[in-house]
Formats: sequence, structure tokens, C-alpha cells
Amino acid sequence: MPSLPDSGLRVAGTGAYLPARVLSNHDLEKLVETSDEWIFTRTGIKERRIASEKETSTFMGVAAARQALARAKIQATDLDLILAATVTPESFFPSTACRISAELGASGCPALDVQAACSGFVYALILANQFLSTGTAKNILIIGTERLSSVVDWRDRNTCVLFGDGAGAVVLRREPGRKGMLAFDWGAEGSSADLLHLSNMQARMNPLTPPAPATPECIVMAGKEIFKQAVTAMADSAKRTLEKAGVPLSDVKCVISHQANIRIIDALVEKLKFPRERCFANVHRYGNMSAACIPVALHEAGPEMNLQPGDKVLLVAFGGGLTWASALIEW
Ligand code: ACO
Repeated sequence: MPSLPDSGLRVAGTGAYLPARVLSNHDLEKLVETSDEWIFTRTGIKERRIASEKETSTFMGVAAARQALARAKIQATDLDLILAATVTPESFFPSTACRISAELGASGCPALDVQAACSGFVYALILANQFLSTGTAKNILIIGTERLSSVVDWRDRNTCVLFGDGAGAVVLRREPGRKGMLAFDWGAEGSSADLLHLSNMQARMNPLTPPAPATPECIVMAGKEIFKQAVTAMADSAKRTLEKAGVPLSDVKCVISHQANIRIIDALVEKLKFPRERCFANVHRYGNMSAACIPVALHEAGPEMNLQPGDKVLLVAFGGGLTWASALIEW
């Protein structure tokens, strides 16, 4: 595959919004038969944030976006494109991106949602990079925002302990003279969709046929199988991206992977033979926030991992679909 043209991509600003309400493992002990010890040893999660009624995906996305715009020192009216990654929109249409755009006052700016579950943010980043490469966009806002607490079955201990709510956002700026994104890899395997899905499509009724049997409204997951697939798919995708970029892993300052489970992250770095301390993790604080994980991690990793301009950062994600994606960017 030919190397990517220079896109000049720079992460000009990041933002995050996490609801104030904390649900700890001990709180969950009162809801389902579980224990802090079980959850922490199996997942690395200590607590997660839970949105209040007013903290919708749009509300949280707007707050994260405002912070990213302020840090990038631009106005919403300077944006050329808005992409929102979410599996918990308030409506199928208008899209979450259009709702956020309205709140920000980005009148006229194209806005659309990217739905690739937990891989959604990296998918959106790869799409954004194409517009930066061609010079057809200078400033792009990407938001990952999720209110998973509203699609989790709080009686099912297999899933309810894993997820949380929150939003992250980045402003990407085209700065000529920089490589930007060095390489990426993405893919999907729709035939394995049953392993992880959210079929909240009750409204899809046909007036000429009897009502369909009730479909599950909550996240359904084959945990053990997803665990294995996530590790393999993320490791393979990361390797392909590094190979395309011609960059050895030793040149990568920091790996930021999807935050589903600390054991998945540990297994990933082990497969990659990457130093664990250079792989960012915040899953203990927030649990799995699907498409919001990576932008929130990017927001926190900048200062926590002391990222400097030019540092190479490898992003890698896996999620429902099934989908996977990785991208090597210059900070
Ligand atoms: N508390 C106590 N016991 C529990 C809980 C809980 N919260 N949840 C499940 N158990 C029980 C099960 O009922 C089962 O009991 P049984 O053996 O009597 O049937 C037992 O624990 C299973 O234990 P383990 O085999 O040790 O579980 P495992 O090590 O597979 O961990 C987990 C389960 C954490 C779900 C793991 O498989 C996992 O993380 N999978 C990935 C899932 C994931 O991250 N999904 C997110 C979406 S995909 C993504 O974002 C990449």
C-alpha cells in the first residue's frame, strides 16, 4: 500500500466531560450479586460515571467540544466538518453531530454521525484525515459521546459492571509541513455481529405483519469470546499500521487503546511487546465508555504521558459490528 500523503493533522485541542455522579463497585454490590474484588480483578474497573437525566449524549458532547474548541483557540464558526461517534444518540435523526452543531452555533458546517461502536472515534479520525489530506478541510471537530447507562441491563451482572458515561472531543487542524497521520488500518466483520450488539430498534415495525417478538433493548455480549477477539483484532491492526508506516514500535511514545478492560489492555501490550508503562489506561476511573474512551484518554494522556509535539501516538480500538481500527499519529 502506498504511504499516506501528508495531511498535516495536528490535535489542536482536546476536551472531556464526565458526569459528576460516580457509581463505585461497592454501589454495584447493592444492585446485583457481585463484589468489588470480582469486578476489579476481572476488569480493572473501580468506578464509572453515570449521567443524570439532563446529561444526554448531546449535552456531554457539547461540553467536551466547547473545551476542545477553547483549547484550539478557534470558534465553532471556524469548523469545516463535525463528526460525532456514538451508539447512544437521542434520535436517529437529527444526528448527534447536528444536535451538537446547533448548540455550538456552527451554522452551515457539515455534520454527521459515525457509527462503528467502540471503534467509532478512530473511524472518524481516519475519515477526518482524508479531508485534511486533500486540503478540503482545515479545522475538524470529532466528538465521541456515550450514555451507555441508558442501554445497559442493570439486572445483568455480566454486563452492567463494565460500562459508563462520558464524552471526549478533539479539534484537528491542518498544519502544512507535518506528516500528521502516518498510517492507519481499519476493518469490520459483520458476520460476527451477534457477539456484541444493541438492537434497540423497537420502532421498526411493519403495519402489515404481526409485531415482531420483543428484541433485546440492552447491550448483549458474549464476554469471553469478545475478550479474545478484541485482543487479537487490536494487536493485528496495530501491527499492520506500524508496518504500513515503516515505524518500529520502539519509536512509539504512547499507545492509547480502547478502554474496555485492563486485562484486554495488558494482553494487547504483551502481544505487541510494548512497555506497559507507555500504554495509557484510565479504565479504572470510567469503565468502558465505547466511542468516548479514546478521546477522553487522549485528553488525559497529553499531560499524564507528557506528550510532546512530534511524538508518535498509536491509537487502537475494537468494538461491536464487529469493527476495529488503528492509526499512528504525530502529536
Ligand atoms: N460479579 C460476579 N460474578 C460475575 C459477574 C459479576 N459482575 N459477572 C459474571 N460473573 C460470573 C458469571 O456468571 C460466571 O459464573 P459461572 O461460571 O458460575 O457461570 C463467572 O463469573 C465468569 O467468570 P470468569 O470466567 O472468570 O469471567 P471472565 O474472566 O471471562 O470475565 C468479563 C468476564 C469481565 C466479562 C470478560 O469476559 C470481559 O471483559 N470480556 C470482554 C467484554 C467487554 O469488554 N465488552 C465490552 C464491549 S467490547 C469492547 O469494548 C472491546
